[in-house]
Amino acid sequence: MYSKMKKEAAAAAVVSQNGSLNGSQNGLSHSMAALGLDSAESAKAALPDPTADENGGEENDVKVDIKRGMDTATFRRVGKQMVDYVADYLENIGDRPVLPNVQPGYLRDLLPGAAPERPEDFEKVMEDVESKIMPGITHWNHPNFHAYYPSLNSYPSILGDLLSSAIGCVGFSWIASPAATELEVIVCDWMVKAMDLPSHFLSTSETGGAVIHGTATESTLTCMLAARERAIKDWLKEHPESGYFDAFSRLVCYSTDQTHSMIVRNASFIGIEIRRLHLPEGRTSLNRKEFVQAVEEDKAKGRIPFFVCGSFGTTSSCDFDPVEEIGPVCMSERIWLHIDAAYAGAFLFCPEYRPLMRGIEYADSFNFNPHKMMHVNFDCSALFLRCVEDLFDGLKEDLLSGLKLMKIFKEQGIPDYRHWEIPLGRRFRALKIWFVLRSMGLQGLRKSLRHHVQMADHFAERMGADPEFEVLTKSLGLVTFRVKDTDAVNALLYNLICDDGRIHLNAAETGNPPTYYLRFVCTSHAEQKDVDFAFDVIKSLTARLRSRRLSLSEVQAEREKMLNNLAQQRRITSTG
Ligand SMILES: Cc1ncc(COP(=O)(O)O)c(C=O)c1O
Repeated sequence: MYSKMKKEAAAAAVVSQNGSLNGSQNGLSHSMAALGLDSAESAKAALPDPTADENGGEENDVKVDIKRGMDTATFRRVGKQMVDYVADYLENIGDRPVLPNVQPGYLRDLLPGAAPERPEDFEKVMEDVESKIMPGITHWNHPNFHAYYPSLNSYPSILGDLLSSAIGCVGFSWIASPAATELEVIVCDWMVKAMDLPSHFLSTSETGGAVIHGTATESTLTCMLAARERAIKDWLKEHPESGYFDAFSRLVCYSTDQTHSMIVRNASFIGIEIRRLHLPEGRTSLNRKEFVQAVEEDKAKGRIPFFVCGSFGTTSSCDFDPVEEIGPVCMSERIWLHIDAAYAGAFLFCPEYRPLMRGIEYADSFNFNPHKMMHVNFDCSALFLRCVEDLFDGLKEDLLSGLKLMKIFKEQGIPDYRHWEIPLGRRFRALKIWFVLRSMGLQGLRKSLRHHVQMADHFAERMGADPEFEVLTKSLGLVTFRVKDTDAVNALLYNLICDDGRIHLNAAETGNPPTYYLRFVCTSHAEQKDVDFAFDVIKSLTARLRSRRLSLSEVQAEREKMLNNLAQQRRITSTG
């Protein structure tokens, strides 16, 4: 009855509006009177009915499974269709354009401005996925995707994520889901052994352990917080007259200008000064002399050097800081040494790349992203620690002291992972790692990593054999190259590649003065023919470039476009 009145009142409101348009001052009350409603009733009728929807339906009538969002029979049917959709998508991904051809804001024009009141058929949703969402996707697993660093996935990992979503646990403590915690400890120990990382990162070691976070940025931030508290504690022991914030204001951390830009963001998050050590021309990694000099300079000014982020595979050229040179300095100065191996770390599954990690035994923490080269879907970042107790101090556990937490972890082998990270809630990410390790085996992973390097070698060979190009660097699957010409010409080439859209890669700029170059890296979907295709596209666009005679203003316009592109890339991807 109430609902009927509501509908009639709504109709009356429309009448009244029309009435007003026709010159009536009091159309609504006339209409209400016509409906036999007094003003109290009309006030009630004017209140929105919380159970009614805009189309006049009621929530009580709505056909929806409020337990699971759709009924199980439908889930089984559309779920199987979704598996087929995913399989078709990945199997035929090469048939789609690698880069979307859409303008910013394209989706707003295609979708309604508000969420639907009534449930819609899932088939309709999927129609929109194909017609509206997919045209706006950059396909990161496309054979013509050569940008950033890859974010490889795999069917086992996708299935692991699906199961993790179904379980839906938020495993912040052991009892919140014992298997989630225990599997995480086990897969981390498996990775330490499989990558031949120092045994002090094992959960069974005296002080060490490992945890899975979402991203390298988050892992590094966690270590910086731990290092900050360790350094302040040390300082206050030696300078009891000083205070916490006095020590805080003296802290300084280090990276090179090649270290990923996450380090700058993290330093600003925690309010600490960072020194980006600028490397001399032609060098992309730090040396001991420069590092010692910076530390001595800062100490002389009363500062407290407390953290350095060494790179194991920089983003711009996949170069390696000589950890065996800076490690002993960190040890003697008690500076936390963190190694960012976000991309290159996975290559340690292959024994032939392990010489690159000389000096890792000095590291307080080591981090790599299984979501890059290990076929584990985004997001997944593994952090290995020499002394877990430092984390508990850094994250300021209220209830128990770090020592107690450490004792429980070491005695029972059971961490309460909420004390190892910034967020409280955490996904069951170990499941997808476990699925990948078991389904691909270490041999499968090594085969994939070696294939990746072979593809880069092939690209570098093609580039190197062509007198028009020069290969600047080739390291673990990343090739940097340029046309033997000015920066402006290289920038033009990059813009042509972007506009052409058949392949996707990035440009970068390093050095002092900066040199502009292009980066090439493959996904696991790329085969030799795809690498040849990429080379042919670059070659033909270079020929097109050469055939154009540009006026000075055109060159200037292109240069501006290049600078904008670079700035946008840095904003969006932090490349370089
Ligand atoms: C070397 C390196 N370190 C850190 C990062 C940041 O990774 P994340 O997105 O996991 O924070 C990247 C990103 O690609 C990277 O290449």
